[in-house]
Amino acid sequence: MKFSVTKTSSSKLTDINFETLKFGDTFADHMFEVRYKNGAWGDGAILPYGPIKLDPAFSVLHYGQAVFEGMKAFRYKGNKVNIFRLDMHYKRFIRSCDRMNIAHVPQEMFVESIKQLVDVDRGWVPADKYKSLYLRPFIFASDEFLGVRVAMNYRYMVITGPVGNYYSEGIKPTKLTTYPQYVRAVKGGTGEAKVPGNYAATMQPNALAAKEGYAQVLWLDAFEHKYIEEVGTSNIFFKIGDELITPPLEGTILPGITRDSVIWLAKKWGMHVVERKISIDEVFEASKAGDLQEIFATGTAAVISPVGYIHHDGKAIDLKQDKMGELSQKLYDTLTGIHHGDVEDPDDWCTLI
Ligand SMILES: Cc1ncc(COP(=O)(O)O)c(C=O)c1O
Repeated sequence: MKFSVTKTSSSKLTDINFETLKFGDTFADHMFEVRYKNGAWGDGAILPYGPIKLDPAFSVLHYGQAVFEGMKAFRYKGNKVNIFRLDMHYKRFIRSCDRMNIAHVPQEMFVESIKQLVDVDRGWVPADKYKSLYLRPFIFASDEFLGVRVAMNYRYMVITGPVGNYYSEGIKPTKLTTYPQYVRAVKGGTGEAKVPGNYAATMQPNALAAKEGYAQVLWLDAFEHKYIEEVGTSNIFFKIGDELITPPLEGTILPGITRDSVIWLAKKWGMHVVERKISIDEVFEASKAGDLQEIFATGTAAVISPVGYIHHDGKAIDLKQDKMGELSQKLYDTLTGIHHGDVEDPDDWCTLI
């Protein structure tokens, strides 16, 4: 599958300071676009990055029928670029599309749109270790129609942008809080899909958390407000005694690709990894008993993010850590090593171009 390519006549690449990159405000020169109409996909195209024309009646603007993914491409040894776990991101994209009843992007179109776009903007993949090119494939309903119905027209697009080292100012364990008055997801809802509405619904609690001095909200289950689900835009792990525990995927949690990679690696290292329900009270009790060794969040953005403090119901756990724990550091070093080719690809996780 080969797409048409229209290159920009005014590349922004030389204007970019790769030393001061933040997340999400810098975009590479090109983007991918393809339209779905009358039950079929049109011809995909790589175009100069820029604004797109939207009809004000576009169904996505009113009813939010859309899905996105987030993944990264890294500089790899031998002057190659590595797209991390592309196949697994496709599988999650399709599962999310099913939940939104959105037309499937064929696997070849998804894979090739990303590979060919990254290849055209190869120069935008930062050379430094820990930096990367963030990749954002997304699809949205584009019917010009205000009735609530499954859309018949869609646009699938990919945009990309270089991002800096998440830990450029050093690794500082984060502070989390629970909010029993807010809920992220319920079984049968959309919590396990990567859809914009899930994120929109977290803006108010996120703003409150920031105001109260917390980095993220630690989400509890919707019924008992007791079992831990995930944190912000990451999954969560607890090292208690010799067990590595993470909440199970039962419909309310996004099945993180970093979560999957961490489980895979920890099992390979002979650790006792358990996907099971874990209550906030169990974590407080483990902390009191001195068995709680590490808490860390996992996600594409930070890879591994240590958690040092959890506030819940007027009480707090303070691990009094000012750096990553031993296991968190080993996972971080291994995963970033795999990203950049310093550690061997364990299980076909790397797509090299
Ligand atoms: C709600 C949520 N949970 C977990 C994750 C972690 O997933 P991944 O490791 O695939 O980035 C993300 C990020 O995509 C997220 O948005």
